[in-house]
Amino acid sequence: MTEKKPELILAFESSCDETSVAVVEDGVKIRSNVIASQINSQKRFGGVVPEVASRHHVEQVTLCAEEAMTQAGVTYGDLTAVAVTYGPGLVGALLIGVSAAKAVAFAHQLPLIPVNHMAGHIYAARLVKPLVYPLMALLVSGGHTELVYMRGAGEFEIIGDTRDDAAGEAFDKVGRVLNLAYPAGKKIDDLSKLGQDTFNFPRAMIKDANYDFSFSGLKSAFINKVHNAEQRGEKLSKPDLAASFQASVIDVLITKTMRVCQAYGVGQLVLAGGVAANSALRSALTSAIDQEDPNLDFVVPPIRLCSDNGAMIGAAAHVMMARGARADLDLNADPSLSFAYAEEVLN
Ligand code: KG4
Ligand code: ZN
Repeated sequence: MTEKKPELILAFESSCDETSVAVVEDGVKIRSNVIASQINSQKRFGGVVPEVASRHHVEQVTLCAEEAMTQAGVTYGDLTAVAVTYGPGLVGALLIGVSAAKAVAFAHQLPLIPVNHMAGHIYAARLVKPLVYPLMALLVSGGHTELVYMRGAGEFEIIGDTRDDAAGEAFDKVGRVLNLAYPAGKKIDDLSKLGQDTFNFPRAMIKDANYDFSFSGLKSAFINKVHNAEQRGEKLSKPDLAASFQASVIDVLITKTMRVCQAYGVGQLVLAGGVAANSALRSALTSAIDQEDPNLDFVVPPIRLCSDNGAMIGAAAHVMMARGARADLDLNADPSLSFAYAEEVLN
């Protein structure tokens, strides 16, 4: 009797400033996950310069793919499919991954699976443990802050969204005021451990009867506090500023997340996206669940799977492929792709 061959997906991610290629087995096992970060190159600009990002992706994508295949110990003939992030993200950056994935799919006659980057972030949790539907995901990254309800595999409904800045964007902007290098999230996280929430910044929309967020008022309050102190010749404690800002973001995220989980009666909560690496957010959410909803199963990927990586795209591709998602070789990047994509790509 012949043994069933494992499903092996080669997955490309290039939506922002990480070039990553992974091989994922059966949607759950990471055979390789090669990540080339551009942070050292981009931090001198204080953010991601799209043209610089694209050039880095061009240089890295083939090397990452070869390395991912070698580390996984597979040949192109072993692959089941090729997956790629086709949005949302920077269009020039996305196009590099899309072109590379198409080239492999064409050369080796493999199905091409189009993946939404945000779905990838959520499915990073599937690399930790099985997902149980219906579930809620708190998706917090540099570009998004969303509460996403999933009735079933590959079905996404946005229940709450940010009205202005994304949570990660707010960390990065506030970091600039504190002279921290881009991206500042991790540095604010570390600095906060040395300070206290003494400034009592606003908790925008915390009491509103919806699940939306707003972080631009917090950012302005922070900037005003620092500038007013500078004008008076006062020096404020950086750790206290960082801790106060972070406490405000976390307070709002947790209050709304706990409320939405109750309202939708979900049994599982997934924390996803780059800001999910925040140590205070991870522990505060764990405590809130222990106290308010101990039966809620909390799934949070390890930190290396929270920021952009190919393995999460391979995990999401497994689900989308099972649902019939396929792209032709004319697949284009879609920089403002929304979750509604699922219907378009399902055959
Ligand atoms: O998901 P991601 O890697 O890229 C996007 O898809 O946006 O998220 C990057 C964001 C950045 O804004 C970065 O500052 C933030 O995640 N971040 C953090 C932490 N680590 C990364 N924010 C807060 N605390 C952290 N430890
Ligand atoms: Zn991301």
